Amino acid sequence: MTPPEIVELAPSAPLPRADFLQIKNVCKDYRRRGAPPLRAIDNVSFDVTEREICVLLGPSGCGKSTLLRMMAGLDRASEGELLLADQRITGPGRERGMVFQSYTSFPWLTVRQNVEFGLRVNGESLAIKEGTADYFLNRVKLGAFADVYPEQLSGGMRQRVALARALATYPRLLLMDEPFGALDAETRWQMQELLLEVVTKEAMTVVLVTHDIDEALFLGDRIVFLSRHPGRVKEILTPEFKAGQRLTTKEALSDSPGYHEMSKHVIRLMREEGETH
Ligand SMILES: Nc1ncnc2c1ncn2[C@@H]1O[C@H](COP(=O)(O)OP(=O)(O)O)[C@@H](O)[C@H]1O
Ligand SMILES: [Mg+2]
Repeated sequence: MTPPEIVELAPSAPLPRADFLQIKNVCKDYRRRGAPPLRAIDNVSFDVTEREICVLLGPSGCGKSTLLRMMAGLDRASEGELLLADQRITGPGRERGMVFQSYTSFPWLTVRQNVEFGLRVNGESLAIKEGTADYFLNRVKLGAFADVYPEQLSGGMRQRVALARALATYPRLLLMDEPFGALDAETRWQMQELLLEVVTKEAMTVVLVTHDIDEALFLGDRIVFLSRHPGRVKEILTPEFKAGQRLTTKEALSDSPGYHEMSKHVIRLMREEGETH
């Protein structure tokens, strides 16, 4: 068995704070017509460490998107609070970037202009804007498509534009909702590897939502597993087989001792959630 390929976790940077993002006793009720409110999230609490990749994993409908939208400030908690670097989250902010589950773009802007959009908002100069946009478009392998319009691209390509756009603003907190769901298998692991490389290099903190177990194990420094109806923290898992370091290639995942056991454990958690409801 070959040893897993690893990278150091930004060793020279100052010590990360363990309570960078705090989710404190958060509940979310959705109002319903002619029925009592639906409790989508029930008393969820956990902290996300600075520079960590925290994965929210759980079956469909367990409240992953709801929780992520609250972190983005796009939705409000019914009870409890969310704090980013001690500041209560009350709305969206520039220090947070978001990649949505389904691709969102401005159809009247070219691919490059879409990626530049966040930079424009942040008031970057033209040279920096173009250089940054082109750099990330090349990294998501869309350099040749910079001047076309989103409608000319496939769903998977549009999702990569969204990834480039989010990365290009160098957010302190990157929030991603099933960002690779629309991609074919090969592109999917290429983008997962790219994400790991960029967020490690740029010391970004990431919360990523997925229902894909391998994606969670490959990307997550920590995995918050949610049960459903209502969404609660069922278990917080640390992929010990990575020994506190990040893998750099998808092959390294299946080569890692301990990976298969953890994968089986998570499949069991998923099955329990599927069977009890
Ligand atoms: N805007 C909404 N109005 C009413 N119910 C909603 C709304 N958004 C989500 N829900 C409900 O909340 C629960 C959690 O949804 P969601 O956060 O989308 O789950 P996930 O992303 O894990 O699939 C589901 O039962 C869903 O039907
Ligand atoms: Mg969702």
